[in-house]
Amino acid sequence: MYTIFYALFFLQFLLNISYSSSLDTITPTQSIADGQTLVSSGQSFVLGFFSPGSSNNWYLGIWYKTTPDVLVWVTNRNNPLNDSYGALIIINNGNLLLETGNLIVGDRDSIINSNSEVYAWQSFDHPTDTFLAGMKIGWNFKTGIEQHLTSWKCEDDPSAGNFTFRMVLKGRPQLFISNKLTAAIKFRSGPGNGVRFSGSPNILAFPVFKPYLVSNEDEVYYSFRPNQNAVITRLKVNPSGLTDRLILYNKSTAWSTMYTQPYEPCDYYGYCGANGICRINRDPLCECLQGFNPWSEEEWNVLNYSSGCVRKTPLDCRSGDGFVKLDGVKFPDFLEFWSNKSMRLEECEEVCLRNCSCAAYANFDIEKGSGCMIWFGDLIDVRELRVNDSVEDIYLRLPASEIKSILVAKRKRRLRTILTVSIVTSTICILILVMLWWKFWKAKRKVVKGLQESDKEDVELPLFDLATIASATNNFSPQCMIGAGGFGSVYKGTLITGQEIAVKRLSKNSGQGFTEFRNEVELIAKLQHRNLVSLSGCCIQAQERMLIYEYMPNRSLDHFIFDNNRSRLMGWKKQFDIIMGIARGLLYLHIDSKLHIIHRDLKASNILLDINFNPKISDFGLARIFRDDEKETRTRIVVGTYGYMSPEYAIDGKFSVKSDVFSFGVLLLEIVSGKRNRRFNHPGHHHNLLGHVRQKKTE
Ligand SMILES: *[C@@H]1O[C@H](CO)[C@@H](O)[C@H](O)[C@H]1NC(C)=O
Ligand SMILES: *[C@@H]1O[C@H](CO)[C@@H](O)[C@H](O)[C@H]1NC(C)=O
Ligand SMILES: *[C@@H]1O[C@H](CO)[C@@H](O)[C@H](O)[C@H]1NC(C)=O
Ligand SMILES: *[C@@H]1O[C@H](CO)[C@@H](O)[C@H](O)[C@H]1NC(C)=O
Ligand SMILES: *[C@@H]1O[C@H](CO)[C@@H](O)[C@H](O)[C@H]1NC(C)=O
Ligand SMILES: *[C@@H]1O[C@H](CO)[C@@H](O)[C@H](O)[C@H]1NC(C)=O
Ligand SMILES: *[C@@H]1O[C@H](CO)[C@@H](O)[C@H](O)[C@H]1NC(C)=O
Repeated sequence: MYTIFYALFFLQFLLNISYSSSLDTITPTQSIADGQTLVSSGQSFVLGFFSPGSSNNWYLGIWYKTTPDVLVWVTNRNNPLNDSYGALIIINNGNLLLETGNLIVGDRDSIINSNSEVYAWQSFDHPTDTFLAGMKIGWNFKTGIEQHLTSWKCEDDPSAGNFTFRMVLKGRPQLFISNKLTAAIKFRSGPGNGVRFSGSPNILAFPVFKPYLVSNEDEVYYSFRPNQNAVITRLKVNPSGLTDRLILYNKSTAWSTMYTQPYEPCDYYGYCGANGICRINRDPLCECLQGFNPWSEEEWNVLNYSSGCVRKTPLDCRSGDGFVKLDGVKFPDFLEFWSNKSMRLEECEEVCLRNCSCAAYANFDIEKGSGCMIWFGDLIDVRELRVNDSVEDIYLRLPASEIKSILVAKRKRRLRTILTVSIVTSTICILILVMLWWKFWKAKRKVVKGLQESDKEDVELPLFDLATIASATNNFSPQCMIGAGGFGSVYKGTLITGQEIAVKRLSKNSGQGFTEFRNEVELIAKLQHRNLVSLSGCCIQAQERMLIYEYMPNRSLDHFIFDNNRSRLMGWKKQFDIIMGIARGLLYLHIDSKLHIIHRDLKASNILLDINFNPKISDFGLARIFRDDEKETRTRIVVGTYGYMSPEYAIDGKFSVKSDVFSFGVLLLEIVSGKRNRRFNHPGHHHNLLGHVRQKKTE
């Protein structure tokens, strides 16, 4: 048995108007019945019969082709079919067409010209629980149609449920989620300003869709249009009265929730009761507005704010009342109000003062800063907006006594500020004096001490003799050599105690003269950190100068990261830990150690790895101590390793802690890419790794 429930004409179902496809069109001689569907020509939407979940009822609806369980529209939500033998047929002349999920009935001409004025009927005028791009929520004064959403009863029953999402025009247009049965308001968007509603998330910050508010003589409505074709969004009122903004990325098949309203307690209508204000970053969230006290201290103390706040002192009414400004709040609901769109703010204040029940005033049009809006009686649903969310200021009326106490408090605060400033200033002066005296005293002491101790070395480091080292390294045999650099060779050795050591033997004609040697010894001896290599001793004998380090069985980082197999063995987790370790070592050198040190030669081969692959920064031959007050300094001789040097150092010799940070950045890219900065090559360009990364970033 076929149930005919729509007397329609020539049916067409399409996304981009196209008459070539018969799949999106029904002619008067055709029909669709259970199992048959119409698909929009853009393949986005499907119209057909469905039976949700465990329900035995059948409905005609529209869903997304990619996600068939997401129904966006249901025709007969309150008149389900009791079997699956429904059919949609067309009688008479005319067209029915679907665009963007919109099912349209009209004559052929109106559809060809896509003239929505003369469509006989369209599904967008009768939304169910889903708000699609191009739909309207609001009022059309010419046709008398009000478009709003009504939730489903439950997940598998599309019949009209408890909650509506609609626009209310009282005062200024606002969106409300309310319970149909009890008329209780769940959420209020606050007034819109043309692009958004004050109490809603700052949608402009999310470029995936563009909301807009239209207000003219014929109609007032809220709508949105897609902004990025790749992202589809819709708004849905749940059976429980929450609205979700859902998004589907680039034809994926899983919808995700972008935001939900109401979301936080302050979103719930009148959460803090009459004359209360909800502040998201305070604990507790609710406070009474200035000049008000909780109606019941006891209830307020158990966080029951429902009875709100009452005035401490009644308004004076005759004279002396004043106003305080509340910045960045959602306007109270327009319950009892008066407005004038052209009045100036000063006139507005006068009007408010003239009427004893006026509680607050503000500009009518916040964006233009014009007009007058006045609230009488209790102020309901005031909340603080998030930072930068809006600039809605309202002026709250207070009795003379309250204004006076505010002034007194202000004066006190100013006095306190002046007092604090003077205390701070004198403290600083005293500190400077003490510091000058201390410097003078220290300088004096140094001179005295210098005279007493003349040239005594103050390095407290074990001194090894040459014979011990020679025997430990098998007389510097080539088999023991584990590395060679500009300054000499590195040998592995084993002391008689069994301790394994690495010996850095400086070549006699190396660039690292006695100065660099002493520099390195003194520096490392004073540094103690798990991410810095630790010095076990040194050896100075005859022409030989050697540094003795703990031995690092896993050699240096370059050994791993530039080798595909080894770096794969190491794994990302380990590489990440190594990066963190280097950063910690560097932080210690720059900031946390007693000496502040710039390493100046940070590179993969100077990062040694212990048995657990903990990184240790080594080679302090070029390191420099800098004073706390030294921001940047300059050197005539530029030393370091090309590829790791910052441009200002390589070119001008300028260096600071930032030079190390630059080298660290290069190292980081090398670790992540497994490519050496300088040996990087690419068929498309001649840049090194840094240039390549910058180019990618720009793209
Ligand atoms: C289904 O509904 C039709 C009328 O709409 C009614 O005549 C029929 O008896 C119903 N069938 C069942 C099984 O309820
Ligand atoms: C809708 O309201 C009715 C009556 O108050 C209630 O029994 C039902 O649980 C509500 N449904 C939902 C989904 O809240
Ligand atoms: C969307 O998917 C198409 C093809 O799958 C792809 O070409 C396009 O780049 C994707 N767009 C975005 C923004 O991800
Ligand atoms: C809060 O106080 C109101 C008014 O006194 C009362 O009706 C309500 O039950 C209280 N709510 C709770 C959760 O105790
Ligand atoms: C609104 O205010 C303006 C300027 O004060 C005044 O001229 C006008 O009559 C007022 N309009 C109404 C409707 O009160
Ligand atoms: C004050 O405003 C209220 C509410 O609009 C109104 O009922 C009352 O008449 C006004 N009183 C005066 C003195 O204007
Ligand atoms: C707020 O806006 C100002 C100016 O538009 C901007 O400088 C500031 O960074 C913004 N703050 C936040 C937290 O977005």
